[in-house]
Amino acid sequence: MTKFPGYDGKRVIVSGCFSGMGEATARLLLALGAEVHGIDYKDCALSLASFHNVDLRDRVSIDAAVGAIGGRVDALFNCAGLPQTCAPLDVMKVNFIGTRHLTEQVITLMPAGSAIASISSTGGLGWSRRIPVHKEFLQVAGFDDAVTWSADHADIVREGYAFSKEAVIVWTMQTSFHLIKRGIRINCTAPGPTQTPMMKDFERATPMAVLDMATQPINRRSTPEEQAAPLVFLNSPAASYVNGVLLPVDGGFMSGMATGQVEMAALSPTKAA
Ligand SMILES: NC(=O)c1ccc[n+]([C@@H]2O[C@H](COP(=O)([O-])OP(=O)(O)OC[C@H]3O[C@@H](n4cnc5c(N)ncnc54)[C@H](O)[C@@H]3O)[C@@H](O)[C@H]2O)c1
Repeated sequence: MTKFPGYDGKRVIVSGCFSGMGEATARLLLALGAEVHGIDYKDCALSLASFHNVDLRDRVSIDAAVGAIGGRVDALFNCAGLPQTCAPLDVMKVNFIGTRHLTEQVITLMPAGSAIASISSTGGLGWSRRIPVHKEFLQVAGFDDAVTWSADHADIVREGYAFSKEAVIVWTMQTSFHLIKRGIRINCTAPGPTQTPMMKDFERATPMAVLDMATQPINRRSTPEEQAAPLVFLNSPAASYVNGVLLPVDGGFMSGMATGQVEMAALSPTKAA
């Protein structure tokens, strides 16, 4: 590695570049000299190398965008997402099924040394308790069959957010084992509460006391920029030995949970009501 973090002239794709973490990631990559290609279903105001109007719920629009970008792709940032206030199948399509499909198409354009970073969530922290069902789901290849599986397992998928974010984590870990043999790394992050346009949906769906619990011990929400920088690091040559990792970017919340130090009173029915 000659220059840190090494994005000069690199061709990268950012999904979800319209707002929040994806927009902050695209902005940072532009400042670092990358050739940034953006994907979103809302038009992006940044001066990108190219922008593609893609609805991640629509496999055909994903394929068209990847075909139009073409050439070599050095890094993919999967930042697009929908909150639990949307229809569960839409949440599954955007947060996991369409994201996986996009990744599989982009991988065909990636040389050895490339990398993929996806945004999961602390909302997916239950992933380790249901690996068998996620492994069953991951065996369902292809966009359409994964949608059918999700519709047929509404009792497991439920509101879609937690399951989709868990799926991103287990998929990242499982895929990393094989992809690295081609010299391609894949990792993901688990942000804590972050002040983006999506936050208003979380505030609508989640009691404030529970949201505040997730900012223990740092006692404030993250900025989108504080989420962008770790993603940019993960996909950089500086992280060349980092693979298959779930990186919590949560101010210490998950560590506090693991060591029993997070105050859980907000989860009691009286406080959370
Ligand atoms: N904000 C938080 O507190 C928080 C916490 C943990 C994880 N996350 C995750 O971070 C990621 C980024 O979210 P954010 O907080 O920046 O919110 P955001 O709403 O600002 O960004 C989401 C982006 O995804 C795009 N998008 C949504 N549906 C799409 C579709 N069908 N096709 C293409 N693009 C679509 C939106 O247009 C937007 O640009 C999401 O995956 C979200 O689940 C957010």
